[in-house]
Amino acid sequence: MMKRLLPFVLLAGAISPFACAAPSALPLDDRQALIEALLERMTLEEKIGQLRLISIGGDMPRERIVEEIAAGRIGATFNSVTRADNRLMQEAALRSRLGIPIFFAYDVIHGHRTIFPISLALASSWDLEAIALSGRVSAIEASADGLDLTFAPMVDITRDPRWGRTSEGFGEDPYLVSQIAGTLVRAYQGQRLSAADSVMASVKHFALYGAVEGGRDYNVVDMSPQRMHQGYLPPYRAAVEAGAGGVMVALNTVNGVPASANRWLLRDLLRDEWGFRGLNISDHGAIDELLRHGVAEDGRSAARLAIEAGIDLSMHDSLYLQELPGLVASGEVPMALIDQAAGRVLAAKYDLGLFHDPYLRIGKATDDPAEVNAESRLHREAARRVARDSLVLLENRQRTLPLRKDARVALVGPLADSHVDMLGSWSAAGVAEQTVTLRQGLEQAVGDGGRIIHARGANVTDDAQMIEYLNFLNWDRPEVIQDPRPAREMIDEAVRAAREADVVVAAVGEARGMSHESSSRTSLALPASQQALLEALVATGKPLVVVLMNGRPLQLGWIKEHADAVLETWFAGTEGGHAIADVLYGVHNPSGKLPISFPRSVGQIPIYYNHPRLGRPYVEGRPGNYTSQYFEEPNGALYPFGYGLSYTEFELSKPRLSQRKLNRGQPLEVSVTVENSGTRTGATVVQLYLQDLVGSSVRPVKELKRFEKVMLAPGEARVVRFVLVEDDLKFHDVRLDYVAEPGEFEVQLGLDSQAVLSERFELL
Ligand code: NOJ
Repeated sequence: MMKRLLPFVLLAGAISPFACAAPSALPLDDRQALIEALLERMTLEEKIGQLRLISIGGDMPRERIVEEIAAGRIGATFNSVTRADNRLMQEAALRSRLGIPIFFAYDVIHGHRTIFPISLALASSWDLEAIALSGRVSAIEASADGLDLTFAPMVDITRDPRWGRTSEGFGEDPYLVSQIAGTLVRAYQGQRLSAADSVMASVKHFALYGAVEGGRDYNVVDMSPQRMHQGYLPPYRAAVEAGAGGVMVALNTVNGVPASANRWLLRDLLRDEWGFRGLNISDHGAIDELLRHGVAEDGRSAARLAIEAGIDLSMHDSLYLQELPGLVASGEVPMALIDQAAGRVLAAKYDLGLFHDPYLRIGKATDDPAEVNAESRLHREAARRVARDSLVLLENRQRTLPLRKDARVALVGPLADSHVDMLGSWSAAGVAEQTVTLRQGLEQAVGDGGRIIHARGANVTDDAQMIEYLNFLNWDRPEVIQDPRPAREMIDEAVRAAREADVVVAAVGEARGMSHESSSRTSLALPASQQALLEALVATGKPLVVVLMNGRPLQLGWIKEHADAVLETWFAGTEGGHAIADVLYGVHNPSGKLPISFPRSVGQIPIYYNHPRLGRPYVEGRPGNYTSQYFEEPNGALYPFGYGLSYTEFELSKPRLSQRKLNRGQPLEVSVTVENSGTRTGATVVQLYLQDLVGSSVRPVKELKRFEKVMLAPGEARVVRFVLVEDDLKFHDVRLDYVAEPGEFEVQLGLDSQAVLSERFELL
């Protein structure tokens, strides 16, 4: 067969990238042959150049970056998000001796220009179609800005809401997060990675980052292999199996060895056991940090450890550039290792279609958008649909919600009219002013007929140190802006507004920076300024609807007791205000379910529904002496995993099993009837949990194995069928063999993880 030869498809005025260096045939249609041919022609310096991923806006000035690219000393960049900027850099890459294109990466975590709800909120939708929509739109928008790769999805399981990055992940459950991981990888990468509107997914942070001790960011992770395999690793694997092109390596240690130097993690597990063939990317400065971890005595040994462990692309370190030439010259690092890493970078570029067309996502200058933030570039409808789905109704006494459109509403709270907080953290190229605040959403919803009386009521916090911290985070401008009035005056104004109104809507919670990288907290309480506001509002006796905006479970005991309705809205994105108004006024019936347990207090952490069984479990309703409990407050979550209310009611039948005795390899059908017994159309999530009743090692009290979101009209009933297969019964035993052991299992069906109906079967 005739091979197609380079040069690339040329754009007007571009020079053939291989014209000067490679007049001989380079096989463009054969990935492996092309990579080998390039590696043969590349100098060691050029190969090492491919291993460098440089931050735009970091310590290297842009002009210098362009020069470095043109010299073949940079393989990829991140944080540059316009076609014009990226074109300049790609032109420089094509001027380099071999004309190898670079790629452009960015943290597109929950949207790019249109911002979708934060990841924890996406998980609350339990709606894989909605999540896929958010991912697809993100890819379309990011690629339209000349981006090729996103550092997402972030699938770190966490059981500790003190961790600020809880907001960035999808919660505590390995099954739910795995489903989302696969869904997002497919959504980002599209039908073909080489399509102009696909971006490569780089799943992170491998591995176990969400288990940092005490929820303190970047802290130690130490975990038994069984827990790792059972509870934390599955989502990364699901992303790899869905074809993720990249893996970003975590900053933390894994059982004593930093992930970035962990050969077991990056080679034995990821490559050999899971068969990952893509690109390993270190996190920001991670190779340098091997010195601070104290596993490398100097830069030279840090670079050696990282390349040996299997870090291909080094994010913003200088050590590969400085140290690898010497390490290769001395024979300490074989050239084969460099070739392997550089080969993977080239393979990623190939898969992204960049060798065929380096401007695939950058396009022609004449097609550049006149205004990058133009309204026409946003996908507001998709954002609103997804945001509505992600809201979780936690309380609704006496049907306080939905509100009547003609009700007089006192809208109070520091987050009620905040644009920037609607974005949530990691808001990519999202623009605060383009978000719809809750105030705007309510005002538009009621139109001329209603009355919204707005009063700020409190600042997010009055703690000067906290404000300083939040404004120090690397946002472009200070964003926690204090209302200078005394707290009392603001509260009085809010109370006056409440007295004039039929109902109070209080938007309280966290500034977005409170749930961010490095923003770990020791307390999950509302800041005192906001608590004082709520107390004053309760004292008015007016019905109180609390609209929570936050990026982690908060401590809600007081609110649960005193508010009439509570809606968890997380950080709902560009269309947040509209979506929340849709739910408050009943245009949309809420259907979100919590993807993470809400503790009563910090002292209960870690708290997670799929806990291993105990010899002395606490039994609710019985005196708890010598059982596993805390004696000063009720035990168990305040709001459990999987929980969320609706404006209608649902009834679930007992589960029916296709058989009671199961042979190996035989599927088991579990069916259940769900009925909308209320008066409104609505959706709920039918959840199937499994408990292995006796195991060779201690098994969890339950584990989510299937779920389905169903929409039902009033009075409508539907049979939901789940098929379980042998793999669903498997776990990693003490030898880490993945086995299904014979014996009894309990199937539990519910609309949350705690109120379940069960049936048993036996695996023969
Ligand atoms: C550090 C973060 O840990 C990681 O998640 C992110 O992708 C990189 N910085 C790049 O921004």
